[in-house]
Amino acid sequence: LSRPMTDPFGRTISYLRVSVTDRCDLRCFYCMSEDMTFLPKADLLTLEELDRLCSAFIAKGVRKLRLTGGEPLVRRNVMSLVRSLSRHLGTGALNELTLTTNGSQLARFAAELRDCGVRRINVSLDTLDPAKFRAITRWGDLDKVLAGIEAARSAGLAVKINAVALKNMNEDEIPSLMQWAHGKGMALTLIEVMPMGDIGEGRIDQYVPLSLLRARLAQQYTLTDLADDTGGPARYVRVSETGGKLGFITPMTHNFCESCNRVRITCTGTLHTCLGHEDASDLRKPLRASTDNELLSAAIDRAIGLKPKGHDFIIDRRHNRPSVSRHMSVTGG
Ligand code: GTP
Ligand code: 5AD
Ligand code: SF4
Repeated sequence: LSRPMTDPFGRTISYLRVSVTDRCDLRCFYCMSEDMTFLPKADLLTLEELDRLCSAFIAKGVRKLRLTGGEPLVRRNVMSLVRSLSRHLGTGALNELTLTTNGSQLARFAAELRDCGVRRINVSLDTLDPAKFRAITRWGDLDKVLAGIEAARSAGLAVKINAVALKNMNEDEIPSLMQWAHGKGMALTLIEVMPMGDIGEGRIDQYVPLSLLRARLAQQYTLTDLADDTGGPARYVRVSETGGKLGFITPMTHNFCESCNRVRITCTGTLHTCLGHEDASDLRKPLRASTDNELLSAAIDRAIGLKPKGHDFIIDRRHNRPSVSRHMSVTGG
């Protein structure tokens, strides 16, 4: 194994997030506009190329790999990629192979994921109210997601629920969402909405700071800070009354970039070293230029050498402009 990758600020890069498709079967209003344009299919890396790319990162010290999207489980044959990547769990090169999904296809794939060495997944679910779920996702079927979550649990996967906190939409529902998740032994992580991509509306009517929601929860519940670190951006508390874990991802109110350990690649082979910056490096060209990984490895090193110090997301009240023009579904969070 080679030396771990380090960026100009001394941060070790050990976590790779891979958006295997920018497409999704849902259209959450804070993520995409209803008539979202997707990347041209002709630009996609094949699953074999994605495997080579991920493996190159693993050879360079990546220990945690997360498949995201869009919705990763709508990419055709995605399980062949999961299965092939799982060989790196066997050799011990990779500590964790995991997935962030909207849950809609989980009933079909849960058992196979577990069989491929996946032990834990994150499911995005912002509400337990079927009408609100349709309002958020535009046409999603809540029952399908709930069935997917149950299938995952029955298959022996640990499930964490991710909910984006949305003003006037689910902010009042956070205690009941938490009670439900904790009742099933699942952690819940709340996320502040980020101004990424043109979604046909401003962010000001969506955004609610988690400091506010935490203060509201603290009136009803006893929250104790935990040292738990999954290697992601969430900071966790234990909730005494439920015994469960509650996470906060606060890009807007509390920047966590100083401990950033991750980069992301898209389904077209673009490397983004920061979620909140326009920076992009093309890895498809060096990947395709030769079958040995020398050019690719050098291109990765160059890109990591340019990783910015951190994001500076702002909610633009005046012009409603996003801070970053890319959608979350392209970068994969
Ligand atoms: P764990 O392994 O459970 O810690 O998951 P994770 O938080 O690393 O991954 P997940 O896909 O659950 O991430 C949840 C959300 O956190 C993402 O969808 C993004 O919205 C946000 N997020 C993840 N990484 C970053 C980051 O580097 N910067 C910012 N601003 N947000 C991030
Ligand atoms: N800000 C914060 N989270 C977002 N997600 C999608 N778009 C945004 C955004 N603009 C979340 C989804 C899911 C994860 C993949 O990213 O809800 O939890
Ligand atoms: Fe799809 Fe997730 Fe975006 Fe919703 S937030 S449209 S489920 S990628």
